[in-house]
Amino acid sequence: MPPKTVPIHGNYHGYYSKRVTDAEGDVRLALLPPDLFADKRVLDVGCNEGWVTCEIAQTRHAREVVGVDIDPELVSLAWKRRKLLWSTQAPIRSGKRKRDTDEPELASLDPHYFPAAMHHIFGPLSVPPARTEDEKTRFPHNVAFVSADWVNNGCPAFDAQGYDVVLALSVTKWIHLNDGDEGIRAFFTRVLAALREGGTFVLEIQPWDSYAKARRMHPKLKENSAKLQLRPDAFGDVLKEVGFIEDEFLGVPGEGGFARPLRMYTKAPLS
Ligand SMILES: C[S@@+](CC[C@H](N)C(=O)[O-])C[C@H]1O[C@@H](n2cnc3c(N)ncnc32)[C@H](O)[C@@H]1O
Repeated sequence: MPPKTVPIHGNYHGYYSKRVTDAEGDVRLALLPPDLFADKRVLDVGCNEGWVTCEIAQTRHAREVVGVDIDPELVSLAWKRRKLLWSTQAPIRSGKRKRDTDEPELASLDPHYFPAAMHHIFGPLSVPPARTEDEKTRFPHNVAFVSADWVNNGCPAFDAQGYDVVLALSVTKWIHLNDGDEGIRAFFTRVLAALREGGTFVLEIQPWDSYAKARRMHPKLKENSAKLQLRPDAFGDVLKEVGFIEDEFLGVPGEGGFARPLRMYTKAPLS
């Protein structure tokens, strides 16, 4: 890992205090189809402190969500985030949710039921073990965090089962600057391999003009940057070359420097 003061992987601590988030949750998730995660197995690459990962696990009825980040300290903060959210959410009522019907019942649980002050004063509630198979698929049991350089190594213990949805939000710039054009190709190829047929890749790309500040952070990034031939505008072509079949533009959420296009790509279903 690089020295703490130089977050050359975009491994910013306190990142989510800077991102513009809506009271209802992450503005990027709000643009996605409401049932995208329902009953799905999800990977969040570059999960940072786990805010988005936990939101998907807690309020989008995902079956299992894995957050992976190259920085182990961020991963440990992500586990803390899970405990905080568990401590403030409404008690889970018994009974099955509507997962076995066609229409998923979304956001049935109040994540802000107990005031955050309770957590600050008394500390987090411990997480009891899941008592049933159904409980294992609900927050907080349905989320796990792992530290790995996913681009170069993946996390085989989790990846082997495949994912229905993979997210890469604001991470391509860091992969590009650290691993070069080949690293971006390798990343998209790994995402395709990790997705199940018909699976969805949600991608938020940082534009080229945002690289300037990042490459000044470290001589290695400056040197790598000078060798780059690919530009973020061409990532869509690379995704098609590696085998993604179609893409859908969802909009440009976020404000100021965080206003970045959000797209979904599909892995061809088995014919
Ligand atoms: C700018 S943050 C974005 C966080 C989050 N995806 C979001 O948009 O809310 C980029 C994150 O990607 C992580 N990251 C960068 N390269 C990575 C890699 N090769 N494998 C796993 N995580 C990586 C960084 O540590 C950092 O936490």
